[in-house]
Parts: sequence; structure tokens; C-alpha cells
Amino acid sequence: MAQEEGGSLSEVRARVGASHGITELAHKQHFYECWAPDCDKDVAVLQYRAPRLAVDCLAQALSGPPQTALILDAARGTGLVAAELQARGFLQLHGVDGSPGMLEQAQGRGLYQHLSLCTLGQEPLPSPKGRLVCLTTRTNLSNLQYKEALEAAPDRLEQSREWEHLVAWPADRWELATSKLEAVPGTSDSDGFISSIIYLY
Ligand SMILES: C[S@@+](CC[C@H](N)C(=O)[O-])C[C@H]1O[C@@H](n2cnc3c(N)ncnc32)[C@H](O)[C@@H]1O
Repeated sequence: MAQEEGGSLSEVRARVGASHGITELAHKQHFYECWAPDCDKDVAVLQYRAPRLAVDCLAQALSGPPQTALILDAARGTGLVAAELQARGFLQLHGVDGSPGMLEQAQGRGLYQHLSLCTLGQEPLPSPKGRLVCLTTRTNLSNLQYKEALEAAPDRLEQSREWEHLVAWPADRWELATSKLEAVPGTSDSDGFISSIIYLY
């Protein structure tokens, strides 16, 4: 899959759009492994604003100087979130991901103090979780099959009595949609972008 230049918008839409339909974990892991060398170029083509939007939300919620916060970036991919965090003074960054190829890309950034391979849902996180958790998910149509689960998520986590739901922040213009079918009519999604929601616990 490696390529000299970033693909055209239609190529990237086809590649990333196809991945949205993969539900089986091993198949998804294979996709991420093959995609790792091209991931940054492809998400640039899709005008992926997710890392900046998520870090905006997190930075507003965290009190205290950024240098004192230890951040675990889970399913961190190539480390785009780490680049945003570092730009805002967050320097203690740990990361985990289930793909060795993504791990290698993130290692190349030199921004994480500790990186490890970890498949979420199958293995425990290698670092203890702190007091604030930030989760994001796309709210485009192809993701709406998970709508019920997403809407229930804040309540479910709160019921465990270990988590307090702090913020559900809708975020527009998350990234370009991979197809017209992904856009939600009558919303900001109509301009070709999809939106998302950022949860803080
Ligand atoms: C689209 S990338 C997102 C990266 C980053 N969070 C960002 O917004 O730039 C998704 C990443 O999640 C990782 N991932 C997906 N499912 C995972 C799982 N169950 N355990 C660990 N990593 C996972 C993939 O390997 C991939 O690197």
C-alpha cells in the first residue's frame, strides 16, 4: 500500500471508506498494519482535524500546568495527537496501539517517553489510568449503527460508579466524509465534512 505521494481524494476516500466496513478485529488490525506508512498522508488529504479538536477539549478541561500532566494516548496511531499535545506544552506522553507498524511511525516522531503494543479490549493498559479520560467517535451516518451504544456510553460508565461523565462536546468538521452516504442531511455534515463527539470522564 506504500506510495510515494499522498493518494488523490477519491483514492483515499475509497481506501479509508472501505476500512469503516471492517468489523472483525484481526481484519481491522491487518488494515492498520498495511496503512501505517500512508496514514499521515491520507488523513491530510481528508483534512483530518480530530487531534486538534480533541486536544482543544482536553486542554480546556485539565487544570494545572500542562508539564505536570501525564497523558496516556490509547490507540494513538502515528502520534498525531502527541504532536498537538506537545505544541501546547504537554510533555509527559505515553502511548499504546495494537499495530506494530503504527508503533514504528509514532516512535519516529520522538514525542513519546514510553510506547507499547497493546490491543484494547484484550489486554490491560500498561500504565494506570489517571483522573480524566477523553473518548471520541465520529457521528456520521455510517457510524450511526453504533448510535444506541454511544448514547448509552456515558450512563453505562457512570453506573460503574468509577466514572463521572463531565463533557459531551459535539465537534464539527472532524474530517472529510469518505462518501456522500456518510453525510447527515441538514447538518454541518452537508458541506462534505463529518462531525464527531468528544466525551470526557
Ligand atoms: C485512525 S487511527 C487513530 C489514531 C489517533 N487516535 C488519531 O486520532 O490520530 C486508529 C488507531 O487505533 C488503533 N486501534 C484500533 N483498534 C485498536 C485496539 N482494539 N487496540 C489497540 N489499538 C487499536 C489502530 O491500530 C490505529 O493505529
